[in-house]
Formats: sequence, C-alpha cells, structure tokens
Amino acid sequence: MVAVAILAAGRGTRMKSDLPKVLHTLAGRSLVERVLDSCSLLDLDRQIVIIGYQGEMVKQALSHRQGIEFVEQTQQLGTGHAVQQVMSSLQKYRGDLLVLNGDAPLLRPETLQKLVETHQIKQNAATLLTANLPNPQGYGRVFCNGGNLVSHIIEDRDCNLAQKQNRRVNAGIYCFNWQKLATSLPNLSTNNDQQEYYLTEVVDYLSPVMAFDAEDYRETNGINDRRQLSEAYDILQARIKDDWMKAGVTMIDPSSITIDESVRLEADVILEPQTHLRGNTTVATGSRIGPGSLIDNSLIGSNVNVLYSVITDSEIAANTRVGPYSHLRGEVKLGQSCRIGNFVEIKKTTVGSNTNVAHLSYLGDATLGDRVNIGAGTITANYDGKQKHPTTIKQGTKTGSNSVLVAPVILGENVTVAAGSVVTQDVNDNALVVARSRQKEIPDWHSQD
Ligand code: UD1
Ligand code: CA
Repeated sequence: MVAVAILAAGRGTRMKSDLPKVLHTLAGRSLVERVLDSCSLLDLDRQIVIIGYQGEMVKQALSHRQGIEFVEQTQQLGTGHAVQQVMSSLQKYRGDLLVLNGDAPLLRPETLQKLVETHQIKQNAATLLTANLPNPQGYGRVFCNGGNLVSHIIEDRDCNLAQKQNRRVNAGIYCFNWQKLATSLPNLSTNNDQQEYYLTEVVDYLSPVMAFDAEDYRETNGINDRRQLSEAYDILQARIKDDWMKAGVTMIDPSSITIDESVRLEADVILEPQTHLRGNTTVATGSRIGPGSLIDNSLIGSNVNVLYSVITDSEIAANTRVGPYSHLRGEVKLGQSCRIGNFVEIKKTTVGSNTNVAHLSYLGDATLGDRVNIGAGTITANYDGKQKHPTTIKQGTKTGSNSVLVAPVILGENVTVAAGSVVTQDVNDNALVVARSRQKEIPDWHSQD
C-alpha cells in the first residue's frame, strides 16, 4: 500500500509573490500539479495535500482532480510539522507514505516508481531521493555511513564549512514506512538555525534509512525563487526536445524552439528556428514548421510547410503550404494541397483541397470548395456590426483581385468574379459576375478648363 502526502503549505517567501509558491506555473501547469502528476505510475491508496498559506486557493486550483484530501497546517512551523498534521488522518493506515515537497516539479514518474520499489524490496524504514549536485548550495546535505545508509541530514544553513563540501543533497522526496515514521514524528525538535520542525530530523530516529541517487540530478531541483523557476523551464524544454530528437524529429537551433509536453510529433518532422508548439498540437511526418511560427492546439497533416505563421485551433491536411505571414485562427480546416499565402488571415473557415488563397486576403465564417482560387486582396465582409454572416464559395470558382464578398452570400461552382467587384447577391454556377461601375473615359479633360 502506498499513500502520498505533498507539502504545499509554505508561502515560498523567496518567490516574492502573493501567490503561494506551489501555484506558480511551469510550462502551463502549477508546481503542485506537476508533483501530483509525478505519481502517475503508482497505484495510490490516498493522496493528501498539506495546505496552509492561501490554502483555499490551492484547494481551488486542484478542485478538478479526483480523490485528493486536504489537511491544513495552520502555522508553517517547518516540513516536519507539516507531516505531523497528517497523523490523525492516517491513524489507521498501514503501508508506505511517500512525502514529496510541493516545489519539486521535475521528478519523473519512473524515478518515483523505482524509489518505491527499492524501498519495498529492501524493507527500509525510509528511502530518500538524493543527488550529487555540481552546486549544492541551499540544499540539505546527506551524510552516509559508507555506502548508501544515511546517518543524518544537515540543512545548508546549519552546515559548517567542511560539511558544505558534501555535494550529496536531499531532494525532499521520501518514501517512509508509515508506522515507523509516525512513531518518530513526535520526537522532532526545533534545534536548528530556523527553529523549525525539520522532517529531515526523523533520519536520526529511523533505521535503516537508504539514499537512492537519481540518475539525472536535474530531476531533483527544488524551486525556491524565480531564477530556479526559469531554470526548471529550460530543463523541461531540454528534456522534451531530447525525447523528440530521439524519436526522429530534426531541430535546427533547438535552443530557440519551445515545445509543450502535450505536443505530439511524428518522425521526419523538421522544426526550424523560433518555432513554438503549444497545447494539443500534432504534426505528422515530413512536415516542416518555421522558421518563426507559433502553432497552438492544431493538427498539422503530413508534408505540410508552415513559414513565419501563426496557427491556433485549426486543422491542416497533407501537402498544404502556409505562409509566409499567415494567421489561421478559431477552427480553420484546410484540405490537402492548398496554398495559403502571404499576409492572409483566415478565421472559422473550411477550405477544400487544391484551393489557393495566395495573397493579402481575409476570409471569415466561410466555406470554400475544391480548386477555388481566391485573388489577391479578396475579402469576405462577414460582419455587419452586429452579427457574423456566412460566405460559401463552391468548387472551381475564381475571385478577381480586390473583390469584396458581402455576407451572407453564395458563389456557385466555376463562378468568375471580376476584379474590384463588391458582390452582394448570390451568383449562379458558371457565371461571370461583374459588380462594379463600368470605366468611364472623358476625353480631352484639360481642354475643358
Ligand atoms: C527542504 C529540505 C532540504 C532539501 C530541500 C529540497 C527540510 C528541513 N529541508 O528545504 O533538506 O534539500 O527541501 O528542495 O525539509 N512546507 C510546508 N510547511 C512548512 C514548511 C514548508 O508545507 O511549514 C512545504 C513548502 O511549501 C515546500 C516544501 O515544504 O513545498 C519545502 O519547503 P522549503 O521551505 O522550500 O524547504 P527547503 O528549505 O527548500
Ligand atoms: Ca525548497
């Protein structure tokens, strides 16, 4: 049996923020939510979050998750004091208790799973995640007797100079035999620089306590200030990009690219510099995105090219080219082999296959068939100041340059719209529509002065 208790009651003074530290977001998800997600491979019997500073806010932020119990620590008297607060809720509990700092968002689920497995196989009283950090400043140092048996943990501020040389740190991630922990918790003192009840002091009362080194020390980073928050973002990004490169994605200048964890990419996708992929975005094989593009919450088919463009909440089928400088937003659906070009904005519009909107257009609330050619500067006038109206342009139709289609309006199949027309009425299949005044020429204009 495994239960988890997450320490999320502290204010996080070093963040210099009104928001509790655990609610600061890292790439779209709060720290505490990331810590909860790091338990995803474990079959948990109980999930307890210890709240205190702005506790209601933390509760609210986690209200969409099932099965979380909240325990209040009214005064923040230290990490040991925080865990003391779960004693009454876990009075009858028999099993292991994972204790996780709420400010350690980079932990991989696999690492936590291995920690619990090791703890259970070795039948330890406690097993704690440790790491050898190049710069251990600020972390509690873990002192072992020979191998991995922990004798004590000393906080950075309580270490003397010699002790500070120890680079093995406590990650604030522990697996305890709950019954043994419960009998040790009342022993905690406040005999330290901060005069707080330190959870790390239980190591003095438990045995055996084992240190479990993280394979990747960057998983153990705790967030105490804004600099560490931004470093965590970089670490997360490096991890995501490494994984996609291993899976067959090419990145040109990866340091200029950002990718959310929720994005899915196929092999042989090429990401050019300054490309940002967010939300539930999927890019299929052979597509080339960037340079200079933002794609949010969109499905990009295979062999698509997107150049210097912004695409949100849209779907693009195979072999279509977008950009340079296109903006597709709000449920745009493009068919196969289309060309959406220079300085084109498309909103809430469905486009068939082999259709071109190549230059300087706005299309909103429209439906375009296959093989349509939208001339340079064609605009759908979809808004009358109160309501949005639809435009339908059927297959094979061509609009002349600088035409305005005043919605609601339907252009039939194979219609030709003369350049500069303002089309206000529906047009039948196969017609030519000219909706502008005829050119008038007055000869010898100056001789009339
Ligand atoms: C703690 C560890 C340190 C370890 C480091 C890893 C202790 C005494 N020290 O130090 O050994 O190297 O984490 O990052 O445990 N919290 C409460 N209630 C409190 C105090 C804190 O819930 O009364 C919560 C905080 O919200 C935070 C977590 O506990 O999520 C850790 O607290 P923090 O003050 O950041 O501990 P560190 O000084 O980083
Ligand atoms: Ca911390």
